[in-house]
Amino acid sequence: MHDGHIIIGNWKMNLDAFASRALADELRKKLAGIRLAPNLEVVVCPSYDALASVGEALSGSALQLGAQDVFWQEKGAYTGEISASMLAALGVRLVIVGHSERRTHLHETDELVNMKVKAALSQGMTPVLCVGETYDERRIGHTELILMRQVVEGLKGITLGPDNKLVIAYEPVWVIGTGQAIDPAQAERAIQVIRQSLIDLYPPATIATQIRVIYGGSVDPGNIANYTTIPGIRGVLVGAASIHAENFIKLLASFT
Ligand code: PGA
Repeated sequence: MHDGHIIIGNWKMNLDAFASRALADELRKKLAGIRLAPNLEVVVCPSYDALASVGEALSGSALQLGAQDVFWQEKGAYTGEISASMLAALGVRLVIVGHSERRTHLHETDELVNMKVKAALSQGMTPVLCVGETYDERRIGHTELILMRQVVEGLKGITLGPDNKLVIAYEPVWVIGTGQAIDPAQAERAIQVIRQSLIDLYPPATIATQIRVIYGGSVDPGNIANYTTIPGIRGVLVGAASIHAENFIKLLASFT
Protein backbone atom coordinates (compact mmCIF):
# COMPACT_ATOMS: atom_id res chain seq x y z
CA MET A 1 0.00 0.00 0.00
CA HIS A 2 1.36 3.42 -0.87
CA ASP A 3 -0.26 6.77 -0.45
CA GLY A 4 2.59 9.23 -0.74
CA HIS A 5 4.59 10.74 -3.56
CA ILE A 6 7.91 9.53 -4.91
CA ILE A 7 10.78 11.75 -6.02
CA ILE A 8 13.50 10.19 -8.13
CA GLY A 9 16.81 11.89 -8.92
CA ASN A 10 18.37 10.75 -12.19
CA TRP A 11 22.03 11.77 -12.10
CA LYS A 12 22.54 10.52 -15.68
CA MET A 13 26.18 10.47 -16.87
CA ASN A 14 27.04 13.71 -15.09
CA LEU A 15 29.13 12.69 -12.09
CA ASP A 16 32.03 10.28 -11.73
CA ALA A 17 32.20 7.88 -8.79
CA PHE A 18 33.97 10.40 -6.56
CA ALA A 19 31.63 13.30 -7.31
CA SER A 20 28.65 10.95 -6.86
CA ARG A 21 29.90 9.88 -3.45
CA ALA A 22 30.47 13.51 -2.46
CA LEU A 23 26.91 14.40 -3.50
CA ALA A 24 25.49 11.44 -1.57
CA ASP A 25 27.44 12.45 1.54
CA GLU A 26 26.24 16.03 1.20
CA LEU A 27 22.62 14.98 0.71
CA ARG A 28 22.77 12.79 3.74
CA LYS A 29 24.18 15.61 5.84
CA LYS A 30 21.64 18.18 4.61
CA LEU A 31 18.79 15.72 5.04
CA ALA A 32 19.47 15.53 8.75
CA GLY A 33 18.36 19.17 8.98
CA ILE A 34 14.94 18.82 7.38
CA ARG A 35 11.79 16.85 8.13
CA LEU A 36 10.61 14.86 5.18
CA ALA A 37 6.89 14.70 4.49
CA PRO A 38 5.44 11.46 5.84
CA ASN A 39 5.19 8.77 3.15
CA LEU A 40 7.47 10.66 0.77
CA GLU A 41 9.76 8.20 -0.96
CA VAL A 42 13.10 9.54 -2.20
CA VAL A 43 15.40 7.69 -4.59
CA VAL A 44 18.66 8.70 -6.25
CA CYS A 45 20.01 6.97 -9.35
CA PRO A 46 23.77 7.37 -9.81
CA SER A 47 25.69 5.80 -12.70
CA TYR A 48 26.70 2.13 -12.36
CA ASP A 49 30.29 2.86 -11.31
CA ALA A 50 29.07 4.79 -8.28
CA LEU A 51 26.28 2.50 -7.07
CA ALA A 52 28.28 0.65 -4.42
CA SER A 53 29.80 3.78 -2.94
CA VAL A 54 26.59 5.83 -2.99
CA GLY A 55 24.71 2.87 -1.52
CA GLU A 56 27.21 2.79 1.33
CA ALA A 57 26.85 6.53 1.93
CA LEU A 58 23.04 6.32 2.01
CA SER A 59 22.77 3.15 4.07
CA GLY A 60 20.41 3.67 7.00
CA SER A 61 19.18 7.04 5.64
CA ALA A 62 15.79 7.95 4.18
CA LEU A 63 17.22 7.91 0.66
CA GLN A 64 16.92 4.78 -1.45
CA LEU A 65 19.28 3.61 -4.14
CA GLY A 66 18.15 3.37 -7.76
CA ALA A 67 19.82 2.53 -11.08
CA GLN A 68 19.49 4.16 -14.48
CA ASP A 69 19.14 0.98 -16.52
CA VAL A 70 19.26 -2.81 -16.34
CA PHE A 71 19.90 -5.68 -18.77
CA TRP A 72 17.14 -8.23 -19.34
CA GLN A 73 19.17 -11.44 -18.93
CA GLU A 74 20.24 -12.71 -15.54
CA LYS A 75 23.73 -14.02 -16.22
CA GLY A 76 26.06 -15.11 -18.99
CA ALA A 77 28.02 -13.93 -22.01
CA TYR A 78 26.68 -10.37 -22.29
CA THR A 79 29.80 -8.22 -22.31
CA GLY A 80 29.33 -4.87 -20.68
CA GLU A 81 25.86 -5.50 -19.29
CA ILE A 82 24.58 -5.49 -15.70
CA SER A 83 21.74 -7.73 -14.55
CA ALA A 84 18.89 -7.10 -12.16
CA SER A 85 20.32 -9.52 -9.60
CA MET A 86 23.68 -7.70 -9.73
CA LEU A 87 21.87 -4.44 -8.99
CA ALA A 88 19.81 -6.06 -6.24
CA ALA A 89 23.05 -7.31 -4.64
CA LEU A 90 24.14 -3.68 -4.27
CA GLY A 91 20.90 -2.71 -2.57
CA VAL A 92 19.23 -1.17 -5.64
CA ARG A 93 15.47 -0.94 -5.07
CA LEU A 94 14.30 0.83 -8.18
CA VAL A 95 15.45 0.97 -11.79
CA ILE A 96 14.73 3.43 -14.60
CA VAL A 97 13.75 1.63 -17.78
CA GLY A 98 13.20 2.97 -21.30
CA HIS A 99 14.43 6.49 -20.66
CA SER A 100 14.07 8.53 -23.86
CA GLU A 101 17.83 9.08 -23.97
CA ARG A 102 18.29 5.31 -24.22
CA ARG A 103 15.44 4.93 -26.71
CA THR A 104 17.15 7.61 -28.85
CA HIS A 105 20.87 6.93 -28.49
CA LEU A 106 20.81 3.16 -27.87
CA HIS A 107 17.78 2.48 -30.10
CA GLU A 108 15.89 0.70 -27.33
CA THR A 109 12.55 -0.59 -28.58
CA ASP A 110 9.35 -1.19 -26.63
CA GLU A 111 10.15 -4.90 -26.82
CA LEU A 112 13.53 -4.48 -25.12
CA VAL A 113 12.04 -2.11 -22.58
CA ASN A 114 9.37 -4.73 -21.81
CA MET A 115 12.05 -7.35 -21.13
CA LYS A 116 13.84 -4.93 -18.79
CA VAL A 117 10.63 -4.23 -16.86
CA LYS A 118 10.21 -8.00 -16.38
CA ALA A 119 13.83 -8.40 -15.28
CA ALA A 120 13.50 -5.67 -12.65
CA LEU A 121 10.25 -7.09 -11.28
CA SER A 122 11.73 -10.58 -11.11
CA GLN A 123 14.22 -9.27 -8.53
CA GLY A 124 11.55 -7.40 -6.57
CA MET A 125 12.78 -4.03 -7.80
CA THR A 126 10.45 -1.24 -8.87
CA PRO A 127 10.74 -0.43 -12.58
CA VAL A 128 10.26 3.19 -13.58
CA LEU A 129 8.92 2.85 -17.10
CA CYS A 130 9.57 6.10 -18.97
CA VAL A 131 7.17 7.09 -21.72
CA GLY A 132 6.78 10.30 -23.69
CA GLU A 133 6.35 11.84 -27.10
CA THR A 134 8.92 13.78 -29.14
CA TYR A 135 8.17 17.27 -30.35
CA ASP A 136 7.44 16.04 -33.87
CA GLU A 137 5.08 13.38 -32.58
CA ARG A 138 3.18 16.02 -30.60
CA ARG A 139 3.13 18.41 -33.55
CA ILE A 140 1.40 15.88 -35.79
CA GLY A 141 -1.09 14.95 -33.08
CA HIS A 142 0.37 11.56 -32.15
CA THR A 143 0.98 12.17 -28.45
CA GLU A 144 -1.85 9.94 -27.21
CA LEU A 145 -1.04 7.14 -29.63
CA ILE A 146 2.61 7.12 -28.59
CA LEU A 147 1.80 7.12 -24.88
CA MET A 148 -0.72 4.31 -25.22
CA ARG A 149 1.68 2.25 -27.33
CA GLN A 150 4.61 2.71 -24.96
CA VAL A 151 2.51 1.81 -21.92
CA VAL A 152 0.77 -1.19 -23.47
CA GLU A 153 3.90 -2.60 -25.18
CA GLY A 154 6.15 -1.83 -22.22
CA LEU A 155 3.83 -3.74 -19.88
CA LYS A 156 2.89 -6.56 -22.26
CA GLY A 157 2.43 -9.87 -20.43
CA ILE A 158 3.28 -8.33 -17.07
CA THR A 159 1.21 -9.25 -14.06
CA LEU A 160 2.06 -7.64 -10.76
CA GLY A 161 2.50 -9.82 -7.70
CA PRO A 162 1.16 -8.47 -4.40
CA ASP A 163 4.59 -7.10 -3.46
CA ASN A 164 5.46 -5.63 -6.85
CA LYS A 165 5.42 -1.88 -7.40
CA LEU A 166 5.57 -0.03 -10.67
CA VAL A 167 6.16 3.60 -11.63
CA ILE A 168 5.24 5.09 -15.00
CA ALA A 169 7.09 8.34 -15.69
CA TYR A 170 5.55 10.67 -18.24
CA GLU A 171 8.47 12.57 -19.73
CA PRO A 172 7.75 14.67 -22.81
CA VAL A 173 11.01 14.16 -24.71
CA TRP A 174 11.04 17.72 -26.04
CA VAL A 175 11.23 19.35 -22.61
CA ILE A 176 13.84 17.08 -20.97
CA GLY A 177 16.93 19.07 -20.07
CA THR A 178 15.60 22.30 -21.57
CA GLY A 179 14.80 24.14 -18.34
CA GLN A 180 11.34 24.74 -19.81
CA ALA A 181 8.82 22.33 -18.28
CA ILE A 182 5.55 21.45 -19.97
CA ASP A 183 2.32 23.36 -19.33
CA PRO A 184 0.78 21.53 -16.34
CA ALA A 185 -2.54 21.20 -18.19
CA GLN A 186 -0.76 19.31 -20.98
CA ALA A 187 0.92 17.07 -18.40
CA GLU A 188 -2.44 16.40 -16.77
CA ARG A 189 -3.95 15.40 -20.11
CA ALA A 190 -1.06 13.04 -20.87
CA ILE A 191 -1.31 11.49 -17.41
CA GLN A 192 -5.02 10.84 -17.99
CA VAL A 193 -4.17 9.00 -21.22
CA ILE A 194 -1.60 6.88 -19.36
CA ARG A 195 -4.09 6.13 -16.58
CA GLN A 196 -6.71 5.14 -19.13
CA SER A 197 -4.23 2.70 -20.71
CA LEU A 198 -3.51 1.25 -17.28
CA ILE A 199 -7.21 0.74 -16.57
CA ASP A 200 -7.34 -1.54 -19.61
CA LEU A 201 -4.47 -3.62 -18.18
CA TYR A 202 -4.88 -3.85 -14.39
CA PRO A 203 -7.66 -3.96 -11.81
CA PRO A 204 -8.42 -0.60 -10.13
CA ALA A 205 -7.13 -1.83 -6.75
CA THR A 206 -3.75 -2.71 -8.30
CA ILE A 207 -3.49 0.70 -9.94
CA ALA A 208 -4.44 2.47 -6.72
CA THR A 209 -2.01 0.66 -4.45
CA GLN A 210 0.87 -0.58 -6.63
CA ILE A 211 1.28 1.81 -9.56
CA ARG A 212 2.32 5.43 -9.47
CA VAL A 213 2.23 7.76 -12.47
CA ILE A 214 4.75 10.60 -12.18
CA TYR A 215 5.97 13.55 -14.27
CA GLY A 216 9.51 14.28 -15.47
CA GLY A 217 11.10 16.96 -17.64
CA SER A 218 12.78 20.16 -16.39
CA VAL A 219 11.30 19.89 -12.90
CA ASP A 220 12.93 22.39 -10.53
CA PRO A 221 12.23 23.85 -7.09
CA GLY A 222 10.24 26.70 -8.69
CA ASN A 223 7.81 24.57 -10.70
CA ILE A 224 7.58 21.23 -8.86
CA ALA A 225 4.32 22.13 -7.09
CA ASN A 226 2.62 22.79 -10.45
CA TYR A 227 2.86 19.04 -11.08
CA THR A 228 2.73 17.38 -7.69
CA THR A 229 -0.56 19.12 -6.86
CA ILE A 230 -2.28 17.51 -9.86
CA PRO A 231 -4.29 14.60 -8.40
CA GLY A 232 -3.17 11.92 -10.91
CA ILE A 233 0.53 12.77 -10.53
CA ARG A 234 2.19 10.88 -7.70
CA GLY A 235 5.73 12.19 -7.94
CA VAL A 236 8.53 13.46 -10.17
CA LEU A 237 11.59 12.22 -12.03
CA VAL A 238 14.27 14.89 -11.92
CA GLY A 239 17.51 15.20 -13.90
CA ALA A 240 19.42 18.48 -13.81
CA ALA A 241 17.95 19.72 -10.51
CA SER A 242 18.93 16.48 -8.77
CA ILE A 243 22.70 16.80 -9.12
CA HIS A 244 23.02 19.84 -6.83
CA ALA A 245 22.37 19.00 -3.19
CA GLU A 246 20.77 22.35 -2.43
CA ASN A 247 18.26 22.11 -5.29
CA PHE A 248 17.41 18.51 -4.53
CA ILE A 249 16.79 19.30 -0.87
CA LYS A 250 14.53 22.19 -1.96
CA LEU A 251 12.55 19.73 -4.07
CA LEU A 252 12.12 17.44 -1.08
CA ALA A 253 11.18 20.34 1.16
CA SER A 254 8.41 21.34 -1.26
CA PHE A 255 6.45 18.30 -0.06
CA THR A 256 6.41 19.23 3.61
P1 PGA B 1 15.64 17.01 -16.57
O1 PGA B 1 15.72 15.43 -16.85
O2 PGA B 1 15.01 17.18 -15.21
O3 PGA B 1 17.06 17.49 -16.61
O4 PGA B 1 14.79 17.61 -17.66
C1 PGA B 1 14.65 14.59 -16.52
C2 PGA B 1 14.94 13.19 -16.99
O5 PGA B 1 15.50 13.02 -18.08
O6 PGA B 1 14.64 12.20 -16.29
